[in-house]
Amino acid sequence: MYLGIDLGTSGVKALLLDGDQTVIASANSPLELARPHPGWSEQDPADWIDATRKALNSLKAQHSRQFGAIKGIGLSGQMHGATLLEASGAVLRPCILWNDTRSHEEAARLDADPRFREVTGNIVFPGFTAPKLLWVRNNEPDIFARIAKVLLPKDHLRLWLTGEHISEMSDASGTSWLDVANRRWSAELLAATGLDQQHMPSLVEGTQPAGRLRKQLAEEWGLGDDIVVAGGAGDNAASACGMGVVLPGHAFVSLGTSGVLFAANGSYLPDPESAVHTFCHALPDTWHQMGVILSATDSLNWLADIAGKEPSELTDALGKDLKAPTGVSFLPYLSGERTPHNDALIRGSFTGLGHETDRAALTQAVVEGVAFAFRDSLEALKAGTELSRVTAIGGGSRSRYWLKAVATALGVPVDVPADGDFGAAFGAARLGLIATETADPLDVCTQPATAETIEPDAALAGAYFDAYQRYHALYPAIRGVSS
Ligand code: XUL
Repeated sequence: MYLGIDLGTSGVKALLLDGDQTVIASANSPLELARPHPGWSEQDPADWIDATRKALNSLKAQHSRQFGAIKGIGLSGQMHGATLLEASGAVLRPCILWNDTRSHEEAARLDADPRFREVTGNIVFPGFTAPKLLWVRNNEPDIFARIAKVLLPKDHLRLWLTGEHISEMSDASGTSWLDVANRRWSAELLAATGLDQQHMPSLVEGTQPAGRLRKQLAEEWGLGDDIVVAGGAGDNAASACGMGVVLPGHAFVSLGTSGVLFAANGSYLPDPESAVHTFCHALPDTWHQMGVILSATDSLNWLADIAGKEPSELTDALGKDLKAPTGVSFLPYLSGERTPHNDALIRGSFTGLGHETDRAALTQAVVEGVAFAFRDSLEALKAGTELSRVTAIGGGSRSRYWLKAVATALGVPVDVPADGDFGAAFGAARLGLIATETADPLDVCTQPATAETIEPDAALAGAYFDAYQRYHALYPAIRGVSS
């Protein structure tokens, strides 16, 4: 048995996988997020550990025999968060998360230093880790002075599980301190943020062992004494392992809290100007590119909250058949945007509202706005990666309407995997299996069967194209008045 643990933004998911890659069970435990000021987004790392304990205890309670047979563990997690530890190992402040944009000025300052784009292959986005450290240095100097280690969220879980300070290439790519072509920390970029390699965990590939489960936890959970913990991956690369998106030409679209259009690459293809992310994949000698939009299902959740409805009630009310855009446009920039704008200050908007605009029209505009944001990412990826089809994952992909809108906005078919769980926790469990058994990653990371392919709606292609043009024109028009 292998255990995958995904430390997401809205909860921890633990998944048990057997040696034939059958999912035995999974358990979730929710997490809260604090937004103490506009643009801030924080979590207490102690809550991650509590939630992980809860998810594991629930798995163990329901499947004690299989749980007791765990041989290896893989970790996945929300990327970019800055978990700051002092020498004793104590956490110095709440973790500053991936969708926190407070450090946009620091990010712009680092990004203006040409070494960052040159070495990391990426824009220094405000959500990335390095500018957060500069923000702490500028605003909380006492805390900065006490920092002994900087860990990404899932690597903080690893510290608790194994006692080791270790990270891996895919998650480390989102720090702005990794030399992404050569897969090692850049001493130069660390120094530019007032840090050195001592502050960093050591690095492995996602498929390699990265610590063993601590004796105390192994005893508490009734497990053996030699449980391997794999390097694992950032949640997007982990999902890619779960979906078998590991070779050039493979791609997925993720409709989660954030939205991601992800393509696997056989080589390092940096293109920072387009605001795509070029990161190491979890497999050795493999990279990937992705466009990231900050509020995907988060946009629908926001509307649902205001409407006092469940998000699924809103999308269900749209019916089964795709409708022509109504003229109401929505820009999903509730926490600023990464691809293609790299703009932390821009905020979302509805335009084209009329007396006739009802709740369904607003829902339709939100669903379309997120689909058009993916179209922006597709355009941004085009320099390095041409996509002919994508596989859909994430909570939002349960809405057929939303998938149809995405297929029509992108102009490519969207494959829906056969029933099953192919997300980040599954990918993490696969990485646990690979590291424990020294298995060939390509043998393990296969693609799921396709249950259904959603084709673009040819009859609405023209109306969608027009609506995308309207959407595209809105950002420059609104930028001047929204920040
Ligand atoms: C990727 C990113 C998000 C988080 C969400 O760059 O910021 O997708 O990983 O968990």
